Amino acid sequence: MNQSRKLMTLDEFTIQELRNFPQATGELSGLLRSIGLACKRINAEVNRAGLVDILGALGTENVQGEEVQKLDDFANKALIDLLNHSIYCAGVGSEENDDIVVFDDPISNNSKYVLLMDPLDGSGNIDVNVSIGTIFSIFKRISPLGQPVTLDDFLQPGHRMVAAGYVIYGSSTMLVYATRRGVNGFTLDPSVGEFCLSHPNMKCPPHGRFYSANYGNFGKYSPGVQAYLKRCETKTTAEGGPYTERYIGSMVADIHRNLIKGGIFMYPGTTDRPQGKLRLLYECNPLAFIVHLAGGIATNGSIPILDIKPVTLHQRMPLFIGSCGMMDELMQCIRAEG
Ligand code: AHG
Repeated sequence: MNQSRKLMTLDEFTIQELRNFPQATGELSGLLRSIGLACKRINAEVNRAGLVDILGALGTENVQGEEVQKLDDFANKALIDLLNHSIYCAGVGSEENDDIVVFDDPISNNSKYVLLMDPLDGSGNIDVNVSIGTIFSIFKRISPLGQPVTLDDFLQPGHRMVAAGYVIYGSSTMLVYATRRGVNGFTLDPSVGEFCLSHPNMKCPPHGRFYSANYGNFGKYSPGVQAYLKRCETKTTAEGGPYTERYIGSMVADIHRNLIKGGIFMYPGTTDRPQGKLRLLYECNPLAFIVHLAGGIATNGSIPILDIKPVTLHQRMPLFIGSCGMMDELMQCIRAEG
């Protein structure tokens, strides 16, 4: 390993980006820094999860009717507290809160940005030490500056997103961040406590061998989805080898792998849950933005995720996302079989 190679930290990277935009105010970079700091705190708790009394459920349910895990609650509070005390965000929509959290003070009311987040996705996996993640997206508010933000600021279609990212708490901790300038990955160096640029200009390979779906639901998928999954079982990949099924049940981890190696992830609607499980605003939209910027595709089976106008904060949406070549094949199956 070349020890003299200088790793650029997340701060250095955002400052360098700012130099390309002399008119930029630095607000977006400040917001990203705050998210990075909050995620370092979450990472510290995730790493100690087996040691302290933080594993397991809190004994309450969130707005989705799901049990809230202690770490979910910690992550939600860590992000909201930090953003509330920063000067870069006017409000937050969180999977863990029924309503938007408005930072109604004179400085926050003059912030341009709102943030939507799933503070800890895959929390069903916390107790068994499987990778989990924080997912976020950033929009420019549409309400006038100087006033508290409103629900409409959060219900914007994904194509209006300014930036999105996720942090994966895995064998290493990594922050992947996308703006219209591209997708970059930063790995947390625990020795200095900094996210360092490790995966510059990430691109999703057009083809891959991984397909990720919950096979337990196979009988409840549409004929088109079933046809695609059967195709993966029997046909060969663009490179000629077999497809490989990989489903962690933690979409940040599944999509992160597919983004780097090439693959497709899906959480389709089922006969009993036509809208699937995943939330448009907190999960589908940010990951669609990232994968799209990396050259991949994300749809709900008929239209691009980023074109969907949200109706409610917590609405769910079927999701098909990944390498463009594999997504084309999936869409052919859906068109042919319905
Ligand atoms: P949760 O945060 O409630 O654990 O949900 C995780 C999400 C997503 O990350 C994952 O891919 C999917 O739910 C798994 O759901 P199934 O167990 O139904 O496959």
